[in-house]
Amino acid sequence: MQKQVSQGETAVGGPQPTVTPLLQVRDVTLQYKTKQHLVTATYKVSFDVFQSDRFVLLGPSGCGKSTLLKSIGGYMAPTEGTISLKGKVVKKPGPDRVFVFQEFDQLLPWKTVKQNVLFALQASGKARGKEAADRALNYIDKVNLTKFADSYPHTLSGGMKQRVAIARAMAMEPDVLLMDEPFAALDALTRRKMQDELLQLWSDTRFTVLFVTHSIPEATLIGNRILLLSPHPGQVKAELNSDGSDPVGADGKKLSDRIHDMLFAEAVEQADAAPPR
Ligand SMILES: Nc1ncnc2c1ncn2[C@@H]1O[C@H](COP(=O)(O)OP(=O)(O)OP(=O)(O)O)[C@@H](O)[C@H]1O
Ligand SMILES: [Mg+2]
Repeated sequence: MQKQVSQGETAVGGPQPTVTPLLQVRDVTLQYKTKQHLVTATYKVSFDVFQSDRFVLLGPSGCGKSTLLKSIGGYMAPTEGTISLKGKVVKKPGPDRVFVFQEFDQLLPWKTVKQNVLFALQASGKARGKEAADRALNYIDKVNLTKFADSYPHTLSGGMKQRVAIARAMAMEPDVLLMDEPFAALDALTRRKMQDELLQLWSDTRFTVLFVTHSIPEATLIGNRILLLSPHPGQVKAELNSDGSDPVGADGKKLSDRIHDMLFAEAVEQADAAPPR
C-alpha cells in the first residue's frame, strides 16, 4: 500500500515497513443493513499493519472504528474489499485476534483473576495444564497483579480490571491485539498510567496492537502509526508516523495540532455537505 500522508507531512519515526504486512485491509466498505436503513460505517478503507506496530485508528465518534475492529475480528464481513491476516483472508473469528474493550465488565465475574486468564487459554485450546497455569501467572505478573491472582473482579478497581483484560488477551499471544478504547472509561490519572504501562509491556514483548481511540493525545503517545479517519462514513484521511514525543513538523506545528486541524477541517467540510449514508 502507498503510504498516505497529509500534504507537507514527513516521516518522524517508527519502524519503516520493509516486510510483508501482518494485517492487510484493502478498500474495505462496511455496511449495516437494517429494515429501514443501509448505514455505511466505513468506505474503501485501506491500511497495512506490520509486525510489532502500535497502529492507532483515530477518528470522531461514529466514523466506524469499532466496526472496522469487529470486521478484522471476523465478526462482520466487508460489503466490499478484503481483510487478510498473514496472507489469509479473514472469514471468521479466531484466537489469532483477541479483543480488549472499554467496558469493565468484560471479565467473568464468577472466576478469579487467574481463572479468567486460564479460562481463555483453555477454552481456545491455546494452552493446557501446567503450561496454561504458568503462562497465566506470567502475564498476570506482567500487569503487576500477582497479589490479586485469586481475587474476584468485583473486588478490583476499573484500572485493575482492565489490566486483567489485557493480561488475558496477551496470554493468548495473538497475532494482533485489538483494543477498542480500552482506557476510555478510566479516570484521567489511571488512564495516563495505563498508557505508560501498555508502552512498557510493548517494550518487553513487542506485540502487535491495533488501538482505537478518539483522543488525539492518546493516539500520538501510544501509536507509532496513526490512521486518521474522516467522520461518518469513515474514510482514510491521512496516515501519520509518531514517536510518542508529539514532534514538531516542517511546518512548525506539533503532530497533535496538525491532527486537530485535519479533524477540524473535516468537521467544517461535513457541516457544508451532508455525508452519504
Ligand atoms: N449494529 C448496528 N446497526 C446499525 N448501525 C450501526 C450498528 N453499529 C454501528 N452502527 C453505525 O455505524 C457507524 C459506525 O459506528 P461505530 O460504532 O463503528 O463508530 P465508532 O467510530 O466506533 O464510534 P465511537 O467513537 O462513538 O465508538 C455509526 O453511524 C453507527 O450508528
Ligand atoms: Mg467505537
